[in-house]
Amino acid sequence: MDKILEVKNLKVSFRTSGGTVKAVRHISFDLERGKTLAIVGESGSGKSVTSKAILGILAGNSIIEGGEILFDGMDLLKIDEETMCDIRGNRISMIFQDPLSSLNPIVKIGRQITEAMLLKDKGNRSTARRDFNDLLAIIKENSTAALGKESEAKVAEMCKKFDEFNIESNHMQESYNNAKNVAEDLISDAEDFLFLASKNQKLDVKSDLKTMADKLKKVKDEFYTYGMDEKVDAAYLELKNAASTAKRGKISDIPEGVINAVKDVEDHMRTLNSQTEPDFFRIGFYKQNNPETDLHAMPVEELNEFCLDYLNENFMLEYLDMEQKGVEYSYRTALEKKKSVIDELKEDRTFFEQEGLSRTDAHKKAKELAAMVEDSIDKLEINKDSVAYTFGHALEDAIDRYYNAVVKNPKEEARYAKQSAKRDALIAKGKTVDWKVVPKLVYDLDELKGNMTAVMDNMIVHYENYIAAGEPDFSKRSVEIVDFMKYKAAAVVHKITRSMAKEKAIELMEEVGIPEPRIRYNQYPFEFSGGMRQRIVIAIALAANPDILICDEPTTALDVTIQAQILELINKLKAERDLSVIFITHDLGVVANMADEIAVMYAGKIVEFGTADEIFYDPRHPYTWALLSSMPDLDTKEKLDAIPGTPPNMIYPPEGDAFAARNKYALQIDFEQEPPKFHVSDTHWAATWLLHPDAPKVEPPRIIVDRIERMKKRSGGSI
Ligand SMILES: Nc1ncnc2c1ncn2[C@@H]1O[C@H](COP(=O)(O)OP(=O)(O)O)[C@@H](O)[C@H]1O
Ligand SMILES: [Mg+2]
Repeated sequence: MDKILEVKNLKVSFRTSGGTVKAVRHISFDLERGKTLAIVGESGSGKSVTSKAILGILAGNSIIEGGEILFDGMDLLKIDEETMCDIRGNRISMIFQDPLSSLNPIVKIGRQITEAMLLKDKGNRSTARRDFNDLLAIIKENSTAALGKESEAKVAEMCKKFDEFNIESNHMQESYNNAKNVAEDLISDAEDFLFLASKNQKLDVKSDLKTMADKLKKVKDEFYTYGMDEKVDAAYLELKNAASTAKRGKISDIPEGVINAVKDVEDHMRTLNSQTEPDFFRIGFYKQNNPETDLHAMPVEELNEFCLDYLNENFMLEYLDMEQKGVEYSYRTALEKKKSVIDELKEDRTFFEQEGLSRTDAHKKAKELAAMVEDSIDKLEINKDSVAYTFGHALEDAIDRYYNAVVKNPKEEARYAKQSAKRDALIAKGKTVDWKVVPKLVYDLDELKGNMTAVMDNMIVHYENYIAAGEPDFSKRSVEIVDFMKYKAAAVVHKITRSMAKEKAIELMEEVGIPEPRIRYNQYPFEFSGGMRQRIVIAIALAANPDILICDEPTTALDVTIQAQILELINKLKAERDLSVIFITHDLGVVANMADEIAVMYAGKIVEFGTADEIFYDPRHPYTWALLSSMPDLDTKEKLDAIPGTPPNMIYPPEGDAFAARNKYALQIDFEQEPPKFHVSDTHWAATWLLHPDAPKVEPPRIIVDRIERMKKRSGGSI
């Protein structure tokens, strides 16, 4: 099983003037890669709170009381806002019930799709600059240490030079990229213009031509338009002339000269776009040292080669040599520290094994160890050592579990003893007792203690293996670092432009089934139907190509036929993009053809969990029965059984099974003790006392038994 997301023991409350609302109470579930998990329950059961906790967008009065949300080796409840921001939208996306709440009514649809892409891109560029600087600083520090104090000035100078010629290169690259972006913009404008003209749409020809002419002026760049400047100027004049005579109109009114001028612009821009790109990393260095030379004396391919030789001879080989010494130094010092970490861990694990280490001392020790491990990481390794980076969290976590159990176990023992005594006393008096004592829920302290040392052992083995693997190839690593920095430097100036974003948006609109996306791109949300709006919201959610899509009641605001289309779309996208989906709904009927697994939620807890087949064909919790009975049935047109009563007040959640008060099958014990999970199969469990071996036998309601029969007959066994 490949789990992409694991929610463990999540507990979320809200502070309100009336008291603390216990919205989500210790829920756990896994989402498997490429699968759909449905979370189903009445309004207020905690579905949205769960999904918002995953995305880190809970309201300000929320308290995360406990638990973990593991994604990609991280606990989403522990990472900083910056990392979370990167995950939100990029890796995990969400769509909500009401598409209008996610759309701005006065901004055109196209812009709303591209905005998300552009904003993300801006964030990526600023972190790229920081990564570049950080890495250079680490190289400088290690190379100085490796080469000794007397080389300090030399190392500083080389690092400065590396930085400076990268800046020079970036300037050229940026100007080139800007020109190229305008050219791509123009291709897109010309395509739009010609497309709309061919569809006989009304066009503001004068203004469109003027916009294109203005852009054409910005295409010029020393490298980008080299040798084409005259053609660009001529095209500019052609457009200007065409614009001066043009007016608003349809294709039949547009003179042929105008169409030709636009076609010319498109052709020229395509020619420019197909040129070989100069390698500015090399050229930048040459220019820095020879500012007066005419770089256009040779063709681009030759220039790239020439500048590479020049760069290597005059700087790069020497720089790589220096950097390699730094890389080696960093590796060796970190290696020594790793050895000390192993010794320290081996020594300290006995503390954790002995009785008597207090909780405070354990935490103090964990912090020290985490700091030591952190310090032993080779910062010039490009691939992060995730075991070392997560060691601190893992150890703290194991400590918390152990010490919590130390406190809780005796309480649980006392509870059990008291209830057993009460039951025995009643039986001794000859009374009939229709409730059972809840089994003892005590944790195995030895096992939990073992977990603490296991985290440390794991770290020891990991570092021992690391040491056994031997030295890396330092010269290879040092080239890799230069490549990595080149890549980061390029990311700083490589903007996603409006036109790139637009073309991608149009593709996305096509993918989510919007007809005529080029026309729809420029319309406002009110010009779309509800279903089309939800498709747009889905397109926005997919813009950054996430791994997980959370759908919170995505079809509740839509009418039935449209609902089916959106569900089909989500299914299609899931398959095509290998998405993992969390699908939240209050309507079990909606998920029959969607979900691989279903979690039934009531009053902040999961009360039943199973595959879709198990939940539909073999439901076990009376609440699941109630949900199934209230599901519309097109076959029989039977009157629906609304679930009687109302959900409990979550400031004072009831003891026992929270559904007991509305459950006609409730046993006495349901009002007193919280039912544990009873497993029906490996994949199916329910938290209801009805599954206890001593419970009276209860059949599901008639309406459900009948329906299951019918469903089985119709589909031959599978929904
Ligand atoms: N910001 C908040 N402040 C107080 N209570 C809240 C807040 N957000 C949600 N709740 C409460 O948490 C519970 C679960 O809500 P929610 O997850 O939105 O339910 P649903 O299952 O309908 O999505 C409800 O009782 C709701 O009133
Ligand atoms: Mg909700």
